[in-house]
Amino acid sequence: MWKPPQKIRWTTGKGVVPDAATLRSSRLFAPLRVGRLTLETRTWVPAMVPWRADEQGFVTDNVLDWYGRFAKGRPAAIVVEATGIRDVPSGPLLRVGHDRFIPGLEKLVGRVRDESQGHTRLFIQLIDFLAIRRRPARDKFLNRFLVITPAHRENLDLPETTPDPDVRALLGGLDEDALKEVLTPREWQDLTTGARERVTDTHLPHIRDLPETLPDLFAKAALRTQQAGFDGVELHYAHAYTMASFLSATNTRSDGFGGTAKNRVKLPLEVFHKVRKTVEQDFVVGARILADEIVDGGSTAQDVQWFALEFARAGMDFLSLSRGGKFDDAKQPKMGDAAYPYTGQSGYECMPQFLSDEFGPFGRNFAATKAIRTALKKAGHHMPIVAAGGIHNFETAEGALQDEVADIIGTARQSLADPDWIEKLAAGQNDQIRTCEYTNYCEGLDQKHKQVTCKLWDRSELDKDGVALSVDGKRRLIAPAWDAG
Ligand SMILES: Cc1cc2nc3c(=O)[nH]c(=O)nc-3n(C[C@H](O)[C@H](O)[C@H](O)COP(=O)(O)O)c2cc1C
Ligand code: SF4
Repeated sequence: MWKPPQKIRWTTGKGVVPDAATLRSSRLFAPLRVGRLTLETRTWVPAMVPWRADEQGFVTDNVLDWYGRFAKGRPAAIVVEATGIRDVPSGPLLRVGHDRFIPGLEKLVGRVRDESQGHTRLFIQLIDFLAIRRRPARDKFLNRFLVITPAHRENLDLPETTPDPDVRALLGGLDEDALKEVLTPREWQDLTTGARERVTDTHLPHIRDLPETLPDLFAKAALRTQQAGFDGVELHYAHAYTMASFLSATNTRSDGFGGTAKNRVKLPLEVFHKVRKTVEQDFVVGARILADEIVDGGSTAQDVQWFALEFARAGMDFLSLSRGGKFDDAKQPKMGDAAYPYTGQSGYECMPQFLSDEFGPFGRNFAATKAIRTALKKAGHHMPIVAAGGIHNFETAEGALQDEVADIIGTARQSLADPDWIEKLAAGQNDQIRTCEYTNYCEGLDQKHKQVTCKLWDRSELDKDGVALSVDGKRRLIAPAWDAG
């Protein structure tokens, strides 16, 4: 992963330890309305892909154990990982593109209800993503993937009648610099990082038709999650995926769904309206968007504030704000690997690590989040805002709420490090909390598509009865139980 050049080492701590009276009067432990639901507190576990579904995208026992473990710590809400809305194979990532996925998801809801004794509300993140290929070997790309065009012949000073195999043979003999001159920038990128579809590829019928197909796909998926018993959905409009790409200022589609901010928000709004119309009124429908894309040419702060206003005007129930996580600045993958959107600077901003710059990894998204929330309040909207990024103790969480940064506190890695941290706080057992160190060991596992665990607990009590281990047999899959005494 990209790291800031300063490489200042930041350490986490427990912060100011609250006494019982402080906890009682805190915002963190105060209830909040989200749509027609009430969250018991402002604590929220954002979506985290743990690589525990099976190859067909079904819920497995390991998925149940993973969410059950978070639920045992009774956060007010958990958002289940990015779950694919299409009925297409996508490896061990959860899917909800067909009714056959409903029974597994129903079990998942049941498990969370049981473990939290009904205290945790359960949402699920719905995602659409476009195709991406692994970085190809040069000869494979030139001989199989590259479509030979008249431009190649022209750049090589060849007659128009030169057969494709001869053009390919000539391209194969060029050195890197010469080949780069002959290929288009897009072809060069496909060769050096692997081909990746973009929402601007409107010459491809399935991409051109996304505005027609996506509202229905999202709505049907949302309906299935309602049937499975979830409390609501989070539409994934963030990071490197389809909907975020529509919102991005890099979206130059000329069909009314790209270019101006007004055109870019059109499809995300249409998807929301279709989902809203399809599910019951008390089913919560929110979205996750980027407060800042952190890429050159990305949407401005004004654009994003305006998107938030549009979503609030449309009646969205909550907005969760993330940061970065784009393909645009991803590192070149190794040959045979696919690009990963969290390897560049934008990826760092999404999941900041303990080696940081003078701003540090804690609350890097607060300023942008607060600006969006302030714009909403000014316009008279009270749509709850979820903040995330480096929040790891009561002091930072409560500080963000008191400072009007957000209404809800998302803690992804802190909850992974210690799923009981909120319960420990509430019980006055602050000293027992395992505080995330922002090593990004977990994120490294995610990047390698390995089952995600935390370095603070994945080697402890391995030989205890009933401990489920990772595929490599070296790590426990869920955090040890906490004996509350
Ligand atoms: C292993 C892992 C998987 C993640 N998967 C998702 C995901 O499926 N959807 C999403 O919106 N964010 C995902 N994220 C980002 C987190 O939700 C969160 O925004 C980010 O980690 C910053 O918050 P934190 O500092 O509290 O961890 C993931 C993060 C991690 C560490
Ligand atoms: S491995 Fe554990 S300590 Fe390290 S960043 Fe992930 S959750 Fe935090």
